Amino acid sequence: MPEKILKFLKERGPEGEFKTHSGPFLSKSLGITRAAIWKQITFLREKGFVIESGKQGYRLSSLPEISAEELALLVPGKKIIFKKETASTNDLAIRTGEKSAVNALVVADGQSAGKGRLGRSWHSPAGLNIHMSILFRPAMPPRKSPLFSLAAAVSAALAIKGHTGLGVKLKWPNDLLANGKKIGGILLELRADPDRILFAVAGIGINVNAGIKDLPKENSATSVLIETGRKTNRAALIAAIQKEFDYWLSVLAGDDIDTLLKTYKPLSDTIGKDISVHTEGEIFEGRAIDIDEEGRLLLLRNNKIHRFSTGDVLKVRGNEK
Ligand code: BTN
Repeated sequence: MPEKILKFLKERGPEGEFKTHSGPFLSKSLGITRAAIWKQITFLREKGFVIESGKQGYRLSSLPEISAEELALLVPGKKIIFKKETASTNDLAIRTGEKSAVNALVVADGQSAGKGRLGRSWHSPAGLNIHMSILFRPAMPPRKSPLFSLAAAVSAALAIKGHTGLGVKLKWPNDLLANGKKIGGILLELRADPDRILFAVAGIGINVNAGIKDLPKENSATSVLIETGRKTNRAALIAAIQKEFDYWLSVLAGDDIDTLLKTYKPLSDTIGKDISVHTEGEIFEGRAIDIDEEGRLLLLRNNKIHRFSTGDVLKVRGNEK
């Protein structure tokens, strides 16, 4: 409910300033009493929204960069869970999925035990980056789940491009790269019966406003800020990613895998390259030639095609398509 009042308070005038709205106007527009308006203003103030009140009415002067209330406004109709800090948004989304049959967007400002792929950890300092997990319930067999990782990667890449202008490439299966450096990643987790996904969680981590000093030293990572020189509003980018992902889920629900692959492949930094795929205990070298309708990577080695549904890709040589 506070998102309704926030919608008015976020309106801007001709100079870009937040508009002032009188108590009677808000009360009439929202169909609630002035006392209820006051209660919601107090609630928003407690959440970090700075709202001035004067003779003319209420005026927003600043708002927290991310809040459950603003996310609810930007992603209407979705259950939102926002935490200043949690161990891992994926773990919280999984617990939520186990408890009730909802779909949800789980966001944390910082994570104390962020998880990466293949048992790695994900550096998640507070106040800088995006840590979001989308809990959803696709009607698909588990073997098709790699497609959801591809869909999440495409969603993040397109939303970053649309929102910041930064071009992002995808290293199979779902590393996000900007100018050859890792800017984000996806961790897909499932709860499934042998033939049915019960629910899935697409965890998306993106380095947004991190400076060089905020990034892990040991690997070559970058951020939107480092690549563009500009700070990005995280709430708006989270909403853009969620909207893209909902679109790609509807595409997959219609079994239109071709449309997803047609969008994924031009973003791929892997297809056409000589690479090595590291799977549990084995390394395969060959040429990445395609991605199939189950999201698997096709590797050509000694005239034989090998299909991988998971693994870590390293480039052997930087030869081009
Ligand atoms: C990778 O290893 O590239 C995947 C990183 C995924 C990180 C995100 S941050 C939000 C979500 N919560 C987690 O604990 N991990 C994912």
